[in-house]
Amino acid sequence: MSGLGFPSALSENVIVLPQTNQLKGLFTIIRDCTKPRSEFIFYANRIIRLIVEEGLNYLPVSPKTVTTAQNASFDGVEFDGRICGVSIMRAGESMEQGLRECCRSVRIGKILIQRNEETQQPVLFYKKLPKDVATRYVLLLDPMLATGGSAIKAIEVLLDNGCKQEQIIFLNVIASPAGIKNITAKFPKLRIVTAAIDDSLDERGYIIPGLGDFGDIYFGTE
Ligand code: URA
Repeated sequence: MSGLGFPSALSENVIVLPQTNQLKGLFTIIRDCTKPRSEFIFYANRIIRLIVEEGLNYLPVSPKTVTTAQNASFDGVEFDGRICGVSIMRAGESMEQGLRECCRSVRIGKILIQRNEETQQPVLFYKKLPKDVATRYVLLLDPMLATGGSAIKAIEVLLDNGCKQEQIIFLNVIASPAGIKNITAKFPKLRIVTAAIDDSLDERGYIIPGLGDFGDIYFGTE
């Protein structure tokens, strides 16, 4: 584990999926560099689905009672408020299907950020958000959280568009300790739901052990 003291030092706003044998098995397949691409897509989608389902736990609910076919009452809940997805292009688009499977006809915005070659700073290239994004809970989608540079820029775009940190739930497949630290230091009220926190970053900014370039494998552009 990293010198940052994870996982004990994690803020309560960082939620890591339970490391069950099922999840470990799914990660063993997608991290294996010999797997066929079709397996990567299928099993990455299964992990993404688990992350989306977990993320939905952090939306507010109100009590709701219904009557069952047994003419008995069931005291349940219903979701309050509206949601939307925002994917950080391009890898974040791989998580859109999992979100749609859980939330039919969900609105999905997009943000494209790229690093300036000279300054190394992340630059916003494109954004298209639901007009009423400020009134919605935002499920921000990006499978790999490395340094956090792109995610921080994307979160700043959401805040500039009227969203509050508390409204944003960042859904992520694999995070680095540095990425988690950078985001939580800047946005302590934002929630991060991730399936794994890996050890470190290499000199190119790839997550170790990681799995390589998620977008390239998922979309077949290796
Ligand atoms: N993006 C990826 O796809 N992989 C990494 O390891 C880091 C960022």
